[in-house]
Amino acid sequence: MNLGIFGGTFNPIHMGHIRASLRFYDKAGLDRLLVIPDRIPPHKEGFVARSEDRLAMLHLVYGDRSIVGDRSIEISEVELRREGKSYTVVTLRELSRQYPDARLFLYTGSDMFYTLESWREGAEILRMCTVFTLAREENERERLLEYAELYREKYGTECIIAEDEPLVVSSTEIRGIIAESGKKNGNFTNNLLTDTVKEYIMKNRLYTDGENNLGELVGRVKCDLPGYLGEKRLSHVLAVTETAELLADFLIGKGAELCRERVTLAALLHDITKYMNQTELCDEYGIMLSEDDALSLPTLHALTGAYFARSRYGIDDEIFDAVKNHSVGAENMALTDKIIFISDYCEATRTYEECKKSREMMLRIISEAKSLDGALYGLDYLAADILGKTLCHLRESGGFIHGGTMRSFRYLVSSHGEDAELSALYGKYIK
Ligand SMILES: [Fe+2]
Ligand SMILES: [Fe+2]
Repeated sequence: MNLGIFGGTFNPIHMGHIRASLRFYDKAGLDRLLVIPDRIPPHKEGFVARSEDRLAMLHLVYGDRSIVGDRSIEISEVELRREGKSYTVVTLRELSRQYPDARLFLYTGSDMFYTLESWREGAEILRMCTVFTLAREENERERLLEYAELYREKYGTECIIAEDEPLVVSSTEIRGIIAESGKKNGNFTNNLLTDTVKEYIMKNRLYTDGENNLGELVGRVKCDLPGYLGEKRLSHVLAVTETAELLADFLIGKGAELCRERVTLAALLHDITKYMNQTELCDEYGIMLSEDDALSLPTLHALTGAYFARSRYGIDDEIFDAVKNHSVGAENMALTDKIIFISDYCEATRTYEECKKSREMMLRIISEAKSLDGALYGLDYLAADILGKTLCHLRESGGFIHGGTMRSFRYLVSSHGEDAELSALYGKYIK
């Protein structure tokens, strides 16, 4: 029997999941498919709906013959029933005991396909099952094939790479739409959900109190922080939070669309893994390090912090990105990312002379900006200036320069066309 495994948080199940799972079934020639929701421990739920609700929505979809046709699809509670972390390898072992004659097929998203070796007991996973993924673009297919070849040579893994049209859907986005509608009459339109799931969400008022959850989460993170950070780092984090909230209030006052609680959470969480073992975290979350990440130990906590915060508190992509980008920045940073990046450098307890100068510049922007555009320009200039100073400092001290720092700097400097003041930063910091 060809037995397929399709796992996820399904928070909530949407068209992207449904389409991928049916493709998986057909293209891999499955006889049965198990849809397996992850277990999220109750204290880590954050933005994740209760297991009962996620399960009920899965049954609504996969119990519907008009969706699944005559395919044999079951919802498996194997991970929901297990205590502790849901490792794929543990699930695979359990299933091969339960179905001793089955050939196991594992579905992975194309982005996760590249990281398979770094999953917990990745080599074992690659030996145990046939891996299936969907290529959504032509150039993606080539890279997937390269990895498939590598897995075949090293572990004898068979990989199936099927084609699919790009369908960009994220549960985060859907939850955002629902939370927004909750402020009105609780009704929302969304063709990315089936009607039955949509009705279920409305009837049970799931995801509608997104902002309340955020407030609760802020309280919880504040409570937990002293357990993760020493006294000195804690006062830095609280000072970053104060600065970030100052910037958020200023920008909201100027008309920016910004969620203050998300800014607060990103600030509180930004250094959360600073004192943890980075290698262990990378292993635990299957983080693939770029060459630069591997060489830049002082900035690695930004990356691991984002994964840790997501796993521990169920934070959404906006907060995840702001934590991840707080150290070396990124091209095309979102406003929340920039706020955290700037606040990390400009917070009031920094004694380094250049930090103080940047703080003065920030306070000047706050008191002088006449419009939102003016404020945003000022903050871009400030962020570029901080990146420039960092590049200079690293060059002079012989520290390793992460490629991301240079890319973020270049991006910001050219982000307002041929702006003379921004362009001048090139001459000032890069010669
Ligand atoms: Fe940091
Ligand atoms: Fe920091």
